[in-house]
Amino acid sequence: MKDLLGIEQLTKEEIHALIDHAVELKANRGRDESVKEILKGETWAMIFTKSSTRTRVSFEVGLNELGATALFLNANDIQLGRGEPIKDTARVLGRMVHGAIIRTFAQQDVVDFAEHGKIPTINALTDEEHPCQILADLLTIRERLGGWDGKKVVFFGDGDCNMGRSWAWAAKRLGFELVIAAPKAFQPDAAFMSRLGEAPVTLTEDVIAASIGADVLYTDTWVSMGREAEAAERLEVLAPFQINAKLVNLAKKGAIVQHCLPAYRDKEITEEVFEARADEIFQQAENRLHAQKAILIALARGR
Ligand code: CP
Ligand code: NVA
Repeated sequence: MKDLLGIEQLTKEEIHALIDHAVELKANRGRDESVKEILKGETWAMIFTKSSTRTRVSFEVGLNELGATALFLNANDIQLGRGEPIKDTARVLGRMVHGAIIRTFAQQDVVDFAEHGKIPTINALTDEEHPCQILADLLTIRERLGGWDGKKVVFFGDGDCNMGRSWAWAAKRLGFELVIAAPKAFQPDAAFMSRLGEAPVTLTEDVIAASIGADVLYTDTWVSMGREAEAAERLEVLAPFQINAKLVNLAKKGAIVQHCLPAYRDKEITEEVFEARADEIFQQAENRLHAQKAILIALARGR
Protein backbone atom coordinates (compact mmCIF):
# COMPACT_ATOMS: atom_id res chain seq x y z
CA MET A 1 0.00 0.00 0.00
CA LYS A 2 1.51 3.32 -1.03
CA ASP A 3 -1.20 5.75 0.15
CA LEU A 4 -4.50 5.65 2.02
CA LEU A 5 -6.74 7.97 0.04
CA GLY A 6 -10.09 6.29 0.75
CA ILE A 7 -11.78 3.00 1.54
CA GLU A 8 -12.66 3.01 -2.17
CA GLN A 9 -9.04 2.27 -3.09
CA LEU A 10 -8.61 -0.61 -0.64
CA THR A 11 -9.12 -4.29 -1.34
CA LYS A 12 -10.87 -6.68 1.02
CA GLU A 13 -7.51 -8.33 1.73
CA GLU A 14 -5.86 -5.00 2.58
CA ILE A 15 -8.66 -4.13 4.99
CA HIS A 16 -8.41 -7.52 6.68
CA ALA A 17 -4.63 -7.21 6.99
CA LEU A 18 -4.89 -3.72 8.52
CA ILE A 19 -7.46 -4.80 11.10
CA ASP A 20 -5.53 -7.98 11.99
CA HIS A 21 -2.43 -5.89 12.53
CA ALA A 22 -4.33 -3.27 14.56
CA VAL A 23 -5.58 -6.04 16.89
CA GLU A 24 -2.00 -7.18 17.40
CA LEU A 25 -0.66 -3.65 17.96
CA LYS A 26 -3.40 -2.95 20.48
CA ALA A 27 -2.65 -6.15 22.42
CA ASN A 28 1.09 -5.42 22.50
CA ARG A 29 0.94 -1.67 23.14
CA GLY A 30 3.72 -0.69 25.53
CA ARG A 31 5.13 -4.23 25.55
CA ASP A 32 6.83 -4.49 22.19
CA GLU A 33 9.85 -2.17 22.14
CA SER A 34 10.63 -3.01 18.51
CA VAL A 35 7.74 -0.89 17.19
CA LYS A 36 9.74 2.22 18.12
CA GLU A 37 12.21 1.29 15.39
CA ILE A 38 9.65 1.13 12.56
CA LEU A 39 9.57 4.87 11.77
CA LYS A 40 12.68 5.83 13.73
CA GLY A 41 14.21 9.10 12.61
CA GLU A 42 11.29 9.96 10.33
CA THR A 43 9.20 13.13 10.26
CA TRP A 44 5.57 12.97 9.11
CA ALA A 45 3.72 16.18 8.26
CA MET A 46 0.12 16.63 9.35
CA ILE A 47 -1.56 19.30 7.23
CA PHE A 48 -4.96 20.16 8.69
CA THR A 49 -7.41 22.65 7.19
CA LYS A 50 -10.23 21.57 9.54
CA SER A 51 -10.49 21.13 13.32
CA SER A 52 -9.67 17.81 14.95
CA THR A 53 -9.33 16.21 18.36
CA ARG A 54 -9.25 12.44 17.78
CA THR A 55 -7.47 12.33 14.44
CA ARG A 56 -4.78 14.77 15.45
CA VAL A 57 -4.09 13.25 18.86
CA SER A 58 -4.18 9.64 17.66
CA PHE A 59 -1.79 10.34 14.79
CA GLU A 60 0.60 12.37 16.93
CA VAL A 61 0.65 9.67 19.63
CA GLY A 62 0.84 6.87 17.06
CA LEU A 63 3.76 8.46 15.21
CA ASN A 64 5.55 8.99 18.50
CA GLU A 65 5.02 5.35 19.50
CA LEU A 66 6.48 4.22 16.16
CA GLY A 67 9.56 6.39 16.65
CA ALA A 68 8.66 9.25 14.29
CA THR A 69 8.21 12.97 14.83
CA ALA A 70 4.85 14.53 13.96
CA LEU A 71 5.03 17.96 12.33
CA PHE A 72 1.61 19.53 12.76
CA LEU A 73 0.87 22.23 10.19
CA ASN A 74 -2.32 24.22 10.42
CA ALA A 75 -3.04 24.89 6.75
CA ASN A 76 -3.74 28.53 7.54
CA ASP A 77 -0.29 28.99 9.03
CA ILE A 78 1.57 27.80 5.94
CA GLN A 79 1.58 29.38 2.49
CA LEU A 80 -1.08 26.88 1.36
CA GLY A 81 -3.56 29.04 3.28
CA ARG A 82 -2.51 32.05 1.16
CA GLY A 83 -3.01 30.24 -2.10
CA GLU A 84 0.18 28.29 -2.76
CA PRO A 85 -0.95 25.32 -4.85
CA ILE A 86 -1.23 21.93 -3.17
CA LYS A 87 1.05 20.41 -5.80
CA ASP A 88 3.83 22.90 -4.95
CA THR A 89 3.35 22.30 -1.22
CA ALA A 90 3.58 18.58 -1.96
CA ARG A 91 6.78 18.95 -3.99
CA VAL A 92 8.45 20.87 -1.16
CA LEU A 93 7.33 18.57 1.65
CA GLY A 94 8.05 15.48 -0.43
CA ARG A 95 11.73 16.41 -0.38
CA MET A 96 11.86 16.89 3.38
CA VAL A 97 9.41 14.65 5.22
CA HIS A 98 8.70 10.93 5.03
CA GLY A 99 4.91 10.95 4.88
CA ALA A 100 1.88 13.25 4.98
CA ILE A 101 -1.45 13.11 6.78
CA ILE A 102 -3.99 15.53 5.36
CA ARG A 103 -7.37 16.77 6.58
CA THR A 104 -9.11 19.08 4.16
CA PHE A 105 -12.20 19.73 2.03
CA ALA A 106 -11.56 18.46 -1.50
CA GLN A 107 -10.63 14.82 -2.05
CA GLN A 108 -8.71 15.96 -5.13
CA ASP A 109 -6.26 17.86 -2.90
CA VAL A 110 -5.26 14.64 -1.16
CA VAL A 111 -4.99 12.85 -4.51
CA ASP A 112 -2.85 15.68 -5.92
CA PHE A 113 -0.63 15.74 -2.85
CA ALA A 114 0.04 12.01 -3.15
CA GLU A 115 0.82 12.33 -6.84
CA HIS A 116 3.20 15.28 -6.58
CA GLY A 117 4.71 14.67 -3.13
CA LYS A 118 5.64 11.09 -3.93
CA ILE A 119 5.56 10.21 -0.24
CA PRO A 120 3.00 8.05 1.60
CA THR A 121 -0.14 10.16 1.95
CA ILE A 122 -3.07 9.55 4.29
CA ASN A 123 -6.56 11.01 3.99
CA ALA A 124 -7.35 12.17 7.53
CA LEU A 125 -10.85 13.30 6.36
CA THR A 126 -12.09 15.04 3.28
CA ASP A 127 -15.63 15.94 2.24
CA GLU A 128 -15.71 12.62 0.41
CA GLU A 129 -14.16 10.03 2.72
CA HIS A 130 -12.91 9.38 6.24
CA PRO A 131 -11.08 6.07 5.83
CA CYS A 132 -9.14 6.17 9.12
CA GLN A 133 -12.40 6.38 11.05
CA ILE A 134 -13.93 3.45 9.21
CA LEU A 135 -10.91 1.24 9.91
CA ALA A 136 -11.17 2.05 13.63
CA ASP A 137 -14.91 1.30 13.47
CA LEU A 138 -14.28 -2.07 11.82
CA LEU A 139 -11.80 -2.89 14.56
CA THR A 140 -14.45 -2.04 17.16
CA ILE A 141 -17.08 -4.14 15.39
CA ARG A 142 -14.68 -7.05 15.33
CA GLU A 143 -13.93 -6.66 19.04
CA ARG A 144 -17.55 -6.21 20.09
CA LEU A 145 -19.36 -8.47 17.63
CA GLY A 146 -16.64 -10.89 16.52
CA GLY A 147 -16.58 -9.55 12.93
CA TRP A 148 -18.74 -7.97 10.26
CA ASP A 149 -19.71 -10.97 8.16
CA GLY A 150 -23.48 -11.25 7.98
CA LYS A 151 -23.98 -8.11 10.04
CA LYS A 152 -26.44 -5.31 9.39
CA VAL A 153 -24.96 -1.84 9.85
CA VAL A 154 -27.38 1.10 9.80
CA PHE A 155 -26.12 4.63 9.27
CA PHE A 156 -28.63 7.26 10.41
CA GLY A 157 -28.70 10.95 9.49
CA ASP A 158 -26.60 12.74 6.90
CA GLY A 159 -25.98 9.75 4.66
CA ASP A 160 -24.35 11.85 1.97
CA CYS A 161 -21.39 12.95 4.10
CA ASN A 162 -17.88 11.52 4.18
CA MET A 163 -18.88 8.90 6.77
CA GLY A 164 -21.90 7.63 4.84
CA ARG A 165 -19.81 7.36 1.69
CA SER A 166 -16.89 5.61 3.37
CA TRP A 167 -19.34 3.15 4.96
CA ALA A 168 -20.78 2.42 1.52
CA TRP A 169 -17.31 1.54 0.18
CA ALA A 170 -16.64 -0.63 3.25
CA ALA A 171 -19.89 -2.55 2.67
CA LYS A 172 -18.99 -3.04 -0.98
CA ARG A 173 -15.48 -4.27 -0.22
CA LEU A 174 -16.40 -6.49 2.75
CA GLY A 175 -19.90 -7.64 1.80
CA PHE A 176 -21.85 -6.80 4.97
CA GLU A 177 -25.29 -5.20 4.75
CA LEU A 178 -25.41 -1.40 5.00
CA VAL A 179 -28.63 0.55 5.31
CA ILE A 180 -28.44 4.33 5.02
CA ALA A 181 -31.48 5.79 6.76
CA ALA A 182 -31.67 9.41 5.66
CA PRO A 183 -34.08 11.88 4.08
CA LYS A 184 -33.94 11.76 0.27
CA ALA A 185 -31.94 15.00 0.10
CA PHE A 186 -29.31 13.53 2.43
CA GLN A 187 -28.88 10.17 0.76
CA PRO A 188 -25.81 9.55 -1.42
CA ASP A 189 -26.67 10.93 -4.86
CA ALA A 190 -27.20 8.97 -8.07
CA ALA A 191 -23.71 9.75 -9.35
CA PHE A 192 -22.18 8.27 -6.22
CA MET A 193 -24.45 5.20 -6.27
CA SER A 194 -23.56 4.53 -9.87
CA ARG A 195 -19.83 4.84 -9.11
CA LEU A 196 -20.36 2.46 -6.18
CA GLY A 197 -22.01 -0.02 -8.53
CA GLU A 198 -23.32 -3.31 -7.24
CA ALA A 199 -23.09 -3.27 -3.45
CA PRO A 200 -25.13 -4.51 -0.45
CA VAL A 201 -26.24 -0.94 0.28
CA THR A 202 -29.86 0.16 0.70
CA LEU A 203 -31.15 3.72 0.98
CA THR A 204 -34.33 4.35 2.96
CA GLU A 205 -36.32 7.01 4.80
CA ASP A 206 -37.93 4.38 7.06
CA VAL A 207 -36.01 4.47 10.36
CA ILE A 208 -38.21 1.77 11.91
CA ALA A 209 -37.60 -0.82 9.18
CA ALA A 210 -33.93 0.15 9.15
CA SER A 211 -33.54 -0.42 12.89
CA ILE A 212 -35.22 -3.82 13.03
CA GLY A 213 -32.54 -6.49 13.26
CA ALA A 214 -29.64 -4.02 13.15
CA ASP A 215 -26.30 -5.12 14.62
CA VAL A 216 -24.73 -1.66 14.52
CA LEU A 217 -26.57 1.66 14.82
CA TYR A 218 -24.23 4.38 13.62
CA THR A 219 -24.52 8.14 13.41
CA ASP A 220 -22.47 11.27 12.85
CA THR A 221 -23.07 14.99 13.27
CA TRP A 222 -25.80 16.46 11.10
CA VAL A 223 -23.60 19.46 10.36
CA SER A 224 -20.27 18.38 8.94
CA MET A 225 -17.35 20.77 8.92
CA GLY A 226 -17.88 23.28 6.14
CA ARG A 227 -21.70 22.95 6.25
CA GLU A 228 -22.29 25.34 9.13
CA ALA A 229 -24.33 27.78 7.00
CA GLU A 230 -26.93 25.02 6.45
CA ALA A 231 -27.20 24.12 10.14
CA ALA A 232 -30.77 25.32 10.78
CA GLU A 233 -32.20 23.51 7.76
CA ARG A 234 -30.26 20.34 8.48
CA LEU A 235 -31.33 20.17 12.11
CA GLU A 236 -34.96 20.40 11.05
CA VAL A 237 -34.91 17.91 8.17
CA LEU A 238 -32.72 15.38 9.95
CA ALA A 239 -34.60 15.40 13.28
CA PRO A 240 -36.62 12.21 12.52
CA PHE A 241 -33.34 10.34 11.95
CA GLN A 242 -32.04 10.68 15.51
CA ILE A 243 -30.77 7.54 17.27
CA ASN A 244 -32.98 7.22 20.34
CA ALA A 245 -34.13 4.50 22.77
CA LYS A 246 -37.07 3.57 20.55
CA LEU A 247 -34.81 2.72 17.60
CA VAL A 248 -32.22 0.99 19.79
CA ASN A 249 -34.97 -1.26 21.16
CA LEU A 250 -35.81 -2.43 17.65
CA ALA A 251 -32.25 -3.52 16.96
CA LYS A 252 -30.90 -7.02 17.48
CA LYS A 253 -30.14 -8.09 21.03
CA GLY A 254 -26.46 -7.29 21.61
CA ALA A 255 -26.43 -4.54 18.95
CA ILE A 256 -23.91 -1.75 19.43
CA VAL A 257 -24.28 2.01 19.02
CA GLN A 258 -21.42 3.83 17.34
CA HIS A 259 -20.63 7.50 16.78
CA CYS A 260 -17.47 8.79 15.12
CA LEU A 261 -17.62 11.88 17.36
CA PRO A 262 -17.83 14.74 18.14
CA ALA A 263 -21.41 14.10 19.29
CA TYR A 264 -24.17 16.68 19.57
CA ARG A 265 -26.52 15.50 22.31
CA ASP A 266 -30.22 15.36 21.55
CA LYS A 267 -29.50 16.13 17.91
CA GLU A 268 -28.23 13.03 16.04
CA ILE A 269 -28.29 10.94 19.26
CA THR A 270 -30.11 11.35 22.54
CA GLU A 271 -28.13 12.07 25.68
CA GLU A 272 -29.72 8.95 27.18
CA VAL A 273 -28.52 6.57 24.45
CA PHE A 274 -25.14 8.25 24.19
CA GLU A 275 -24.37 7.89 27.89
CA ALA A 276 -25.77 4.35 28.07
CA ARG A 277 -23.44 3.37 25.19
CA ALA A 278 -20.46 5.58 26.09
CA ASP A 279 -18.23 2.57 26.67
CA GLU A 280 -18.56 1.23 23.14
CA ILE A 281 -18.42 4.72 21.63
CA PHE A 282 -15.18 5.69 23.40
CA GLN A 283 -13.69 2.27 22.62
CA GLN A 284 -14.30 3.25 19.00
CA ALA A 285 -12.47 6.56 19.59
CA GLU A 286 -9.54 4.77 21.23
CA ASN A 287 -9.30 2.41 18.28
CA ARG A 288 -8.31 5.31 16.05
CA LEU A 289 -4.84 5.03 17.59
CA HIS A 290 -4.43 1.31 16.97
CA ALA A 291 -5.93 1.32 13.47
CA GLN A 292 -3.77 4.27 12.40
CA LYS A 293 -0.58 2.68 13.69
CA ALA A 294 -1.40 -0.25 11.41
CA ILE A 295 -1.96 2.18 8.52
CA LEU A 296 1.34 3.99 9.14
CA ILE A 297 3.26 0.72 9.23
CA ALA A 298 1.57 -0.58 6.06
CA LEU A 299 2.52 2.60 4.21
CA ALA A 300 6.07 2.61 5.54
CA ARG A 301 6.48 -0.96 4.31
CA GLY A 302 4.83 -0.23 1.00
CA ARG A 303 7.09 2.56 -0.19
N1 CP B 1 -13.91 11.38 14.45
C1 CP B 1 -12.97 12.30 14.17
O1 CP B 1 -12.34 12.30 13.12
O2 CP B 1 -12.77 13.18 15.18
P1 CP B 1 -11.93 14.53 15.07
O3 CP B 1 -12.67 15.45 14.13
O4 CP B 1 -11.88 15.06 16.48
O5 CP B 1 -10.56 14.22 14.54
N1 NVA C 1 -18.95 14.20 8.92
C1 NVA C 1 -18.14 14.84 9.93
C2 NVA C 1 -17.16 13.88 10.51
C3 NVA C 1 -16.39 14.42 11.68
C4 NVA C 1 -15.36 13.47 12.19
C5 NVA C 1 -17.45 16.05 9.34
O1 NVA C 1 -16.97 15.97 8.21
O2 NVA C 1 -17.40 17.08 10.00
